[in-house]
Amino acid sequence: MSTTAHETFSTLDWGRVDLNRVPHLPVPPPGPLSQHWHERCTRHFKGLSGQVKLFPVSFESGCGCVLRDVDGNEYIDFSSGIYVTTLGHCHPKISEGIAKAAFQLMNAHDFTTPIKTELMEKLDAVLPGDLTAFQLYDSGTAAVEAGIRVLRAASGRHETVSCFNDFHGKTYGAVSLGHIRSHVYGAVRAPGAHMVPRPDAYRPMWTKPDGSIDTDKYLEFYGQYLDKATVGAVAGFVLEPIQGWGGSIMPPDDFFPKLRKFCDDRKLLLMADEVLTSWVRTVKFLAMEHWGVVPDVVTLGKGFGNGFPVTCVAVREPFKECFESISASSSYGGNPMACAAALISTRVIEEENLLEHATHLGELALRRMQKMKERHRIVGDVRAKGCLMGIELVKDRSTKEPFDRAGTLVYQKAFRKGLAWIPAGHILRMSPPIVMDDATLLRGLDLIDEAIGETAQELGYT
Ligand SMILES: Cc1ncc(COP(=O)(O)O)c(C=O)c1O
Repeated sequence: MSTTAHETFSTLDWGRVDLNRVPHLPVPPPGPLSQHWHERCTRHFKGLSGQVKLFPVSFESGCGCVLRDVDGNEYIDFSSGIYVTTLGHCHPKISEGIAKAAFQLMNAHDFTTPIKTELMEKLDAVLPGDLTAFQLYDSGTAAVEAGIRVLRAASGRHETVSCFNDFHGKTYGAVSLGHIRSHVYGAVRAPGAHMVPRPDAYRPMWTKPDGSIDTDKYLEFYGQYLDKATVGAVAGFVLEPIQGWGGSIMPPDDFFPKLRKFCDDRKLLLMADEVLTSWVRTVKFLAMEHWGVVPDVVTLGKGFGNGFPVTCVAVREPFKECFESISASSSYGGNPMACAAALISTRVIEEENLLEHATHLGELALRRMQKMKERHRIVGDVRAKGCLMGIELVKDRSTKEPFDRAGTLVYQKAFRKGLAWIPAGHILRMSPPIVMDDATLLRGLDLIDEAIGETAQELGYT
């Protein structure tokens, strides 16, 4: 086949996609054109994620909550790229804003531009508390590295504490804060990078006599750990408010308020890595707002630019001056296209009343997922905070043994039915765009329900 991208690709038209017909699968996916492009591309592009390896489809366009592949199949999108296009693919206001900047000025290093100024003022207005100073970067991991620099500059100390199963990015400092699966990434963790367990409501390590999670025990352990396992040079804690890659792991409601007090008492900084959870993925601009906690340092990413690579580190007023010792200069950070993407995304959230809609979608999804739990014994737990959702598959509800094989099969079966989404072993992770309508969300969840039913049958777990 002598196809070129230019000959083949069309775009979906925002506002004109017929949601009632999605999913629409004229060809069983992955179809012949998907296979053609995938085969050509992967002769050179190596190291694909499990998401792609398990379902090698090739996409050509996206519009709102719909993705179209190169064979003309249309899918309901439950992945938002990878937690990125929270406001849907190719939102016309955002795409136009980026295009306008691209024709006007693409890069001006860290010089001031009017669009960057407007973004700074918008961030100041929408972020909680006294988070008033910002630097801009081009990836989540770069923002996390900058956050680590702030911790060091503000405290004069170098050790950090993060949590088991965290993910913070792939550069050296960020990798050192996360769960390392390979010697290539983590032959040597950065000196002073410590990890502790964090409360997971479904799989608690410490419980009270009534079986509920005992958050105080975790904090007690942190105290002992700091006293006995560090060199006394801890700058602060770095945590994801909700663990994304870990499997949409939600903390108990008392965890972050107690951790905030713990940090204040010990004069430690609290850094929230909100690369995945920020910009209304969980309904609020920051997930930490659910617990009324203002972190000292916050990273923003993914949905922040709704698909354009733009990320941010924000710090509270007392740490503003530390930024002076950390140069904001980078090749791409804060370029006019990036600023337009973030500024317009934020405006769209406000103008289209999307906070309310995301809340409604999260509640609707949770009710529907609870029905799946009643119906299928391999569903151990279901959870959602806004449009950040998870379904945990287990072999046995009493032992909670993870059911990875079931996770893989459910992912592939639902994809084959027209749901583009994210696998993670036994935890099914969903991050639909918050612009989705109720009927499309419920249709997507129906596909998962059907796929779980068929998988349970196939594996003999009905
Ligand atoms: C919490 C968190 N931090 C940091 C990152 C790294 O972001 P990026 O892939 O943009 O470097 C991710 C990516 O998934 C993430 O989920």
